Amino acid sequence: MCGIIGYGGFREAGPVLLQGLLLLEYRGYDSFGIAVDGGDRLHAIKRVGRISDLPNDKPLFPSLASDGEKNWHVGIGHTRWATHGPPSDKNAHPHYDCTGKIAIVHNGIIENYHPLKEQLIRDGHSFSSDTDSEVIAHLIEEAYFEKKEEGPIPKRRLAEAVEIVTGKIFGSYAILVTAVGVDEIVAVRSSGPLVLGIGDSEFIFASDMLPIIEYTNRVVYPDDGDIVCVTNSGYHIHRKGDGKRALDSRSEAERKEEYPITVLSLTLQQVKKGGYPHYMLKEIYEEPEVLYQAVHSLTPDTIPQILLDEDYITVVACGTSYHAGMIFAHLLEAMSEKIVKLEIGSEFKYAHSPVRGVLLTISQSGETADTVAAVRRGGCFNRETVAITNVLGSSITREADHTLLMHAGPEISVAATKSFIAQLGVLLQMVNIMSGEICGEELSHVHKAIVPILSLSYDAAVDICAHSEHMFYVGRGVFYPVVMEGALKLKEISYIHAEAYAAGELKHGPFALLSPETPVVAVCLPGPSYAVMTGNLKEIKARGAPLIVLGDPHAPELIDIADCIIPIKHEGMMTDIITTSVALQLLAYYVAVKLGRDIDKPRNLAKSVTVE
Ligand code: G6P
Repeated sequence: MCGIIGYGGFREAGPVLLQGLLLLEYRGYDSFGIAVDGGDRLHAIKRVGRISDLPNDKPLFPSLASDGEKNWHVGIGHTRWATHGPPSDKNAHPHYDCTGKIAIVHNGIIENYHPLKEQLIRDGHSFSSDTDSEVIAHLIEEAYFEKKEEGPIPKRRLAEAVEIVTGKIFGSYAILVTAVGVDEIVAVRSSGPLVLGIGDSEFIFASDMLPIIEYTNRVVYPDDGDIVCVTNSGYHIHRKGDGKRALDSRSEAERKEEYPITVLSLTLQQVKKGGYPHYMLKEIYEEPEVLYQAVHSLTPDTIPQILLDEDYITVVACGTSYHAGMIFAHLLEAMSEKIVKLEIGSEFKYAHSPVRGVLLTISQSGETADTVAAVRRGGCFNRETVAITNVLGSSITREADHTLLMHAGPEISVAATKSFIAQLGVLLQMVNIMSGEICGEELSHVHKAIVPILSLSYDAAVDICAHSEHMFYVGRGVFYPVVMEGALKLKEISYIHAEAYAAGELKHGPFALLSPETPVVAVCLPGPSYAVMTGNLKEIKARGAPLIVLGDPHAPELIDIADCIIPIKHEGMMTDIITTSVALQLLAYYVAVKLGRDIDKPRNLAKSVTVE
């Protein structure tokens, strides 16, 4: 979590940084800050709250206005998801050293910050924030400056000082550093996401490519431990393990060979709202196309052979991706001889048994710390690893042996919607291929079934939900993970407490909570469990709970008991999984709209969870 950005180039840095941070806010948005090098001192803004709260009718740094002559501008910025210390102005990044001449922004966690901070305090440093990140600035101060009577004097290059500090800290991080008057940004990462955009006489570092594409589509992905510098004479990458050999001594050709420039095909239009009131709705409306792309991206020729050969598959994922994994596990075991073991990313490291079979990880962002750690754990057991992700060049793509992209395009809204549908597209196609294409024909048309779901009316169901504080979601078989995801969406964006249960489990305790104030949302479509499911719904209705059913609006047994039916046509197992999932996303969306929630940036959440 947290987004970082750095700009070096001919434009005024402040507006570029703030504009870019707006696109990174999905990574965290409780506070933000920027620092711009003014030549004699750093000019900074550090605020709790949203970037959009900043008045935009005044120049950011009036004293820099006279700086129009300057043709190289440098600054760094950050948008925060609090870990160490609550959201506040003082905890907002950038953080400084004691001299106020060095500024840093950091995404990740410095695990050993506590002893480092204690030592620095004993050495006379004073701290201004509660964050782990601030130690980085003070450690760089120690490595960079020699303290003289007349003031601190640099004793080595800033990049060398940063490299020394990386030997003292551990954890996951992406860090940007600048200092007064050096006209330089130094960057380093260790398991934290970082991309460098290479423009025409300008450079932009960011946590992902979204803020970069306005300026250039040429990017470099630094490796863990590399020290990357941008100055007005170019960019330099000092590879970890190069010892004293500075990379700037390498020829341009050598550098390009080692660090190929990737040309992105992403367009600015893809990351704009395009007339929709929220990114979430835009992204749901993209689902037919996204699903088609995802399904057709995987063929028997492109699937990693190991998935076909191995009988045992360990699946690891978090959040929404975990729900996609549950659906995959359920269907693959039903349709093939393979055995699937499903693990929650954050629990996987506590498993006592060795990793078995092929390790399959699912992660929209490719940056979720627990899922990336799972790939490493698989490697420790000499397991072949496959990652399904939406982000080319993300950490997981660098760690896994094989990557399958889900081609959903950038997802900006914090709540995952189209990426879930794209994950299902890839995973259902995998099930088809791995089980001998039992219903490949159904899947190739399933995207069309989403279209009528988009224009259904959700008003009656929304009216029931929007007045509740607690709700239950129930389903059976493969629809149990479908309702788990539906309940998660509602919780995330409407803040209504929603619990998902396998329908048969509700009577083992939660029945005590049923009342006219606790609506129940149920998926009830024809299939082997239909009769027992309708029986469960009658039991729920008998306890007075309002019932919203996703099912056939003409089925008398549903009409009898449902307060509201969201009409879903039964077309086949795979189609039903998709259509009910989309309907539950839209239900959550319209409830949140009715309640006036901050849909694309729900409170306390972040899209990319880069801490364990
Ligand atoms: C966060 C997001 C969720 C997401 C989960 C896993 O919690 O808010 O929407 O499902 O991380 O993310 P990943 O990128 O690994 O799929």
